[in-house]
Amino acid sequence: MNVHAHLTDGAISVVVLGDAAGGAPWIGHWGSALGSLDESDLALALERPVPGGGLDVDPPPGLVAEAGQAWFGSPGIVGRRAKGTDFAPRFKVDGLIADEREATWQLSDEQAGLSLELRLVLTASGVVTIDSKLSNAGCEPYWLDGLQVTVPVPGQALELLTVGGRWTNEFRQTRSPWIDNCMTIENRRGKTSHERAGMAFAGTPGFREQSGEVWGCHVGWSGNFRIVCDAVSDARRSFQVGELLGSGEIALQSGQSYTMPTVYLSYGATGLNEVSQRFHAYVRGRVGHPRTPRKVLLNTWEAIYFDHRLDRLTALADRAAAVGVERFVVDDGWFHLRRNETAGLGDWWVDSTVWPDGLNPLIEQVRGLGMEFGIWVEPEMVNPDSDLYRAHPEWTIDDPRYPALLGRNQLVLDLGRAEVREHLYGHLDALLCDYDISYVKWDMNRDLIAATGADGRPGVHAQTLGVYELFDRLRAAHPTVEFESCASGGGRIDLGILARTDRVWTSDSIDALDRQSIQRGYSLVFPPELMGSHIGAPTAHTTGRTHTLGLRAASALFGHLGIEWNLLTADETVMAQVTEIVSTHKRFRGLLHSGRVVRVDHPDPNMNVHGVVASDGGEALFSAVRTGVGPSLHSSALRFPGLDPGRIYDVHILAFGGQQWGPHRSLQAWLDLGLALTGRQLAVVGLHAPVLNPETALLLHLSRR
Ligand code: DGJ
Repeated sequence: MNVHAHLTDGAISVVVLGDAAGGAPWIGHWGSALGSLDESDLALALERPVPGGGLDVDPPPGLVAEAGQAWFGSPGIVGRRAKGTDFAPRFKVDGLIADEREATWQLSDEQAGLSLELRLVLTASGVVTIDSKLSNAGCEPYWLDGLQVTVPVPGQALELLTVGGRWTNEFRQTRSPWIDNCMTIENRRGKTSHERAGMAFAGTPGFREQSGEVWGCHVGWSGNFRIVCDAVSDARRSFQVGELLGSGEIALQSGQSYTMPTVYLSYGATGLNEVSQRFHAYVRGRVGHPRTPRKVLLNTWEAIYFDHRLDRLTALADRAAAVGVERFVVDDGWFHLRRNETAGLGDWWVDSTVWPDGLNPLIEQVRGLGMEFGIWVEPEMVNPDSDLYRAHPEWTIDDPRYPALLGRNQLVLDLGRAEVREHLYGHLDALLCDYDISYVKWDMNRDLIAATGADGRPGVHAQTLGVYELFDRLRAAHPTVEFESCASGGGRIDLGILARTDRVWTSDSIDALDRQSIQRGYSLVFPPELMGSHIGAPTAHTTGRTHTLGLRAASALFGHLGIEWNLLTADETVMAQVTEIVSTHKRFRGLLHSGRVVRVDHPDPNMNVHGVVASDGGEALFSAVRTGVGPSLHSSALRFPGLDPGRIYDVHILAFGGQQWGPHRSLQAWLDLGLALTGRQLAVVGLHAPVLNPETALLLHLSRR
């Protein structure tokens, strides 16, 4: 065994090994930095003895776990030739280029006629990316049903955290012991999905935000995917991550390649929060990450739904501008015959009955008020009641031999077909050329059901690439337009779609209480500046629950702020409060959208504490929300990790928007006297907040002296 690569940044080490015979590489260590090392000693230490009662070899789990090398878990490559041969390839290393940050392997299996490229990068954030490409060097087609990378996790990682949910309740966190068995997270919905987030975390028993060692992975793909958390019977644990292909989905002709989606790994020596901070730093380091202040927007959906009338919309725009909104986004309902959910999708031109003079009268009003104009589209979908469907019923991604299953009265177009992409590009490009549009909310409201391409084979892979291509083309043609990814809320949030969008609509639930857990789960991988978070109506439309403006604002304040509420119903007091909230957000958005996110452990599960600390430690904004009744009249102290330990911070309550707390004496004392503690004291001892009533929030601003 010898060391192929030792990627390290002083905090993280990834050691990749290979056997002397030139077999495929495997990760021997991923975790805390190992310092300078004697490579041969480390290789020896990582080599396991061969026990009796089994094979005469102890093959390690290769990055592409090879069944042919006695990997008894799920194979990294599932494929075959037409006659069923070459199903268990074994690769040899042909070439390796490696330094401290990056390693690339060229591998081949001459017998099977396959070659493979593997690339590991330790990025500046400490996140490790893995890319892999399989090529068919043989003469016959190679039918590929799966290419996954396998990443060992150490034996002390005995607990799993998986993430999923449903429409209006995304990113729910589930903890479970990682028993000596296998947990497979499979998403087959044809988009990233609400049900399974493309992420998994494993850690030492009882790991929390600020304690324990934690290993996390994410797959940057907006189609079907699979994460296998395998604790196989021979004392090895691993994440196996990649796209979930349908049987027969990929037929590699001679010379063709399949590139799997990028897999992202993040490690934390001091808990889950550190894992997230690395992910956030990675996302923020990407070329094209939004760096200008995120414009506060108003979205018309829950304000007016399909009831589009110019006079109401212009009045709403006036109100939006009055409270400090910077972007006015017209949601669903503006295009040809789209008066409700039953018709219109596919016909992307302005409805002349509702908009006899086109969109310009509204756009001019919006622009005149100093706001940008944004618009909603759902390009991948078509209603049977549309001109597009009547002209091209064959363009849907269904098997024409069976009756199609509808969802929200709509079908999915086959973006694997060039002519469909071309058609959509033409209409969307014309919309962006004809109108002064700075922002596009791109929605996607249906699962793909047995998606079938034009050739009758599984079509989710081509569909996903088709969607990406359409985005990329539009972005190239309209580089100043921002795009939002929405899929009935948070159904398409991953680093694949985020490579071509600037914001996600996190959830169709604007219920401020539900948002506490949705946004906390979202933040496991993604930073707040990409998170659409809106202040909704007093009574949430999806839950019927009523919350104060204070709680609604405190929940929305941390993300990319929006308002999704009919401000025409707000009286002057409320308008003044909303104005104050928007200006508070603008005051802090620089901090909120660049600082380190800190999710804080609190012993009471009904207390959600989180905040953002400026990257230089100069200030911080924390939120404590009582999500339910506490176990006692008192609460444990709130602690604030992540500050500059030796420096003094002034603590201020940020009161705005008609916030209401429960009965409290200490609050007034703080406001009157002020409070100053060191960063260390705030982290270790913390402080006792005013007693909070259920469903109320406390915001604290900490500024370094
Ligand atoms: C689903 C989205 O999540 C909503 O925000 C809204 O845009 C509707 N679609 C419009 O149909």
